[in-house]
Amino acid sequence: MPFENIENQDLINRLQEFNQSHVLQFWSELTPAQRDQLTNQLETFDFQLIHSLTELASAQSPWEKIAREAEVPPAITLAQQAPEDSLYQQARATGTEALAAGKVGMILVAGGQGTRLGFDHPKGMFPIGPVSNRTLYQMHFEQVLGRSRQFGVRIPLYVMTSPPTHDETTQFLTDNHFFGMDPADVKIFCQGVMPAVDKDGKLLLETKSSVFVSPDGHGGTLEALARSGCLQDAKTRGIEHLFYGQVDNPLIQTCDPALVGYHLNSESEMTSQVVRKTDWSQKVGNVVSIDGKVQIIEYSDLPEKYAKQTNSDGALKLWAGSIAVHLFKLDFLDRSLSQAGSLPFHLANKKVPFLDASGKQVEPDEPNAIKFERFIFDLLPLAENAIVCEVKSEDGFCAVKNAAPANSETPQHVKDAISDLHRRWLQAAGVDLAPGITVEISPTFAADVESLKDKIPAGTKITETTYFK
Ligand code: UTP
Repeated sequence: MPFENIENQDLINRLQEFNQSHVLQFWSELTPAQRDQLTNQLETFDFQLIHSLTELASAQSPWEKIAREAEVPPAITLAQQAPEDSLYQQARATGTEALAAGKVGMILVAGGQGTRLGFDHPKGMFPIGPVSNRTLYQMHFEQVLGRSRQFGVRIPLYVMTSPPTHDETTQFLTDNHFFGMDPADVKIFCQGVMPAVDKDGKLLLETKSSVFVSPDGHGGTLEALARSGCLQDAKTRGIEHLFYGQVDNPLIQTCDPALVGYHLNSESEMTSQVVRKTDWSQKVGNVVSIDGKVQIIEYSDLPEKYAKQTNSDGALKLWAGSIAVHLFKLDFLDRSLSQAGSLPFHLANKKVPFLDASGKQVEPDEPNAIKFERFIFDLLPLAENAIVCEVKSEDGFCAVKNAAPANSETPQHVKDAISDLHRRWLQAAGVDLAPGITVEISPTFAADVESLKDKIPAGTKITETTYFK
């Protein structure tokens, strides 16, 4: 009798109602502490939600209909961002004013498990500086520090971890003294988790006394920001907008004043930075407008015939690719929180190791489970006046996703992209660079081309690999 000594009859009833009693199959072998561990974990699950989500797995996808109606979103294109353009100058001025007034904070999400990279630590600890070997964390922290100094203001940094990355991240950042940031300006908060189910909707046991769970997606940011008190902290500091970036993209133009300005001047509640897709099949989320609401259709969901549509000049119609850099109005985040279920769950088929009925560990070769994740970009359709702002891919986006020898998004690709970007900055500042040398600029030295011009006289010759710090 598997249910002996479980006092919580309500839990037993729920497990039976939702056909999940198998999670107690090793109950008689568990110590009292393990029994507590298991029941405490099960108490955190919303079985009704898991059941409804599992039913979705077999539902027909609505993407054909949605894609048919997809139009181009309201956009500030690169052509509109020429330095001599008066709207660009206004945007830079407005953004600079807001940043200098301390109205902008930064969220960095780092709760993912980096499975594709196969690194044994949180991804933020991965060394990526092409000359310095700085980690992703150091690069992001110094970017925030560089902006703080540039605008003479404290910019708080909210770092989201997850249960698998939290303790090691906290230790690493503390040991490294937050890379020069005032500890009072760094808040580390932890996102939630969701269980996965097998093809029959059954929870998977990770051990005899625990069910497999994984982080609930970067969309978990919203709830976790509120639960951790970080949203309140931002309000108390007078922050009105939060810049959002992901730890695996060291090219993020952190708190870029023009981007902040466009967001403010458009009275946008959520602004997303995008790149112009170079190919219809490029693996980025497609930012589109449907019925006047901006939203993202993932590349895997956009039917080919819609992805391939072109304008009369032959350019792709649905051109805007998401790079997961957003800017949120704080009031909007507050409002979204109060709209229950404002972020839907997405389902993904993944390989999840589990214990079978005999207690044997199974390492599946094929996807055997459905994981449930929320995505932060699903806030876009809820936002008033949402816009997108184009950035050149090589200036703002190169994420570390895959281990070598993959064809794209490997550490070497990202190192090259950082050095190439900084070479272009130096050349734009009038520096004479020897061909082929690797360079890297710390944001505490210069945050952009303009500040670089103040640091290095035009005409300076650089003949060897150099780290400017
Ligand atoms: P990805 O899913 O692309 O990368 O998340 P990952 O999770 O790091 O690596 P894989 O997919 O397991 O190989 C993009 C960004 O969103 C964050 C990640 O840390 C990364 O910066 N993220 C993802 C979270 O913060 N929480 C999540 O639950 C998922």
